[in-house]
Amino acid sequence: MKDCIFTVTGNEKLRPSVMLMKLRGDTSEIKRPGQFVNVKIDGFFLRRPISVCDLEGDGLTLIYKTVGKGTEKMSRMEKGAKLDLLTGLGNGFDTSFSGERPLLIGGGVGTPPLYLLAKRLAEEKKNVSVVLGFNTSDEVFFEDEFRALGCAVTVTTADGSAGTKGFATDALPEDYSYFYACGPEPMLRAVFKKTVTSGQLSFEERMGCGFGACMGCSCKTVTGYKRICKEGPVLFREEIIWED
Ligand SMILES: Cc1cc2nc3c(=O)[nH]c(=O)nc-3n(C[C@H](O)[C@H](O)[C@H](O)COP(=O)(O)OP(=O)(O)OC[C@H]3O[C@@H](n4cnc5c(N)ncnc54)[C@H](O)[C@@H]3O)c2cc1C
Ligand code: FES
Repeated sequence: MKDCIFTVTGNEKLRPSVMLMKLRGDTSEIKRPGQFVNVKIDGFFLRRPISVCDLEGDGLTLIYKTVGKGTEKMSRMEKGAKLDLLTGLGNGFDTSFSGERPLLIGGGVGTPPLYLLAKRLAEEKKNVSVVLGFNTSDEVFFEDEFRALGCAVTVTTADGSAGTKGFATDALPEDYSYFYACGPEPMLRAVFKKTVTSGQLSFEERMGCGFGACMGCSCKTVTGYKRICKEGPVLFREEIIWED
């Protein structure tokens, strides 16, 4: 983990309530796709965790939905602003299990960390399929960016206004070697039920400290309690215990 000051080099509206922020700074602690940064926002005690969407040298891309006061304040930051980030947080996805035909399943703002994962898997010459689920056409993003990496992309929307009508889990292909998923918990539960191979699921729990100190994000696994911010956010399918 490293605490670094980044410079905002861009902060634009990607969709009506989704922003794409580009930053420059010390990215040396970010080792794997699926890791996250914890953003310090002036006036807020708790940092806000946001997944690493893309990484190019010292350039970092974050995609975030404006849901509350913290992300709303972030959305008003302009080019040149300084931002304090804790970097290199979380375990991230392990690509060594992917097999030749990995399937990536993203729900809403669970999609961003899958982009860097897809990029890494494409570099490893894997045949990547991606299924992205959103509520409505207004929320769909990065379909073309995944295609540009060479992925086979399926988009679903709950209201049928873009792509296939339904949830991401209604459109899973039949043939894949392994899966990676990130999204809201109801989606992850459905992914767990409908997938037929091993896989890794990334949880976006509510967090306190974000670096393992407060136990506020603990969840039960077959090997005992794990902190989502430290031993997660990615858990292997086989270790998950769903609690009501
Ligand atoms: C490991 C991790 C990675 C994440 N990556 C991303 C990402 O790449 N892009 C992105 O848009 N968001 C991501 N999130 C969620 C993001 O951290 C929250 O949306 C953000 O902290 C909300 O801050 P706020 O001050 O705007 O909202 P708050 O004022 O704190 O809350 C406002 C509303 O947002 C909801 N909310 C708060 N935190 C979460 C959460 N963790 N998950 C779902 N709903 C929440 C609350 O229930 C409330 O309704 C991630 C969360 C985690 C734990
Ligand atoms: S958020 Fe504090 S231990 Fe995970």
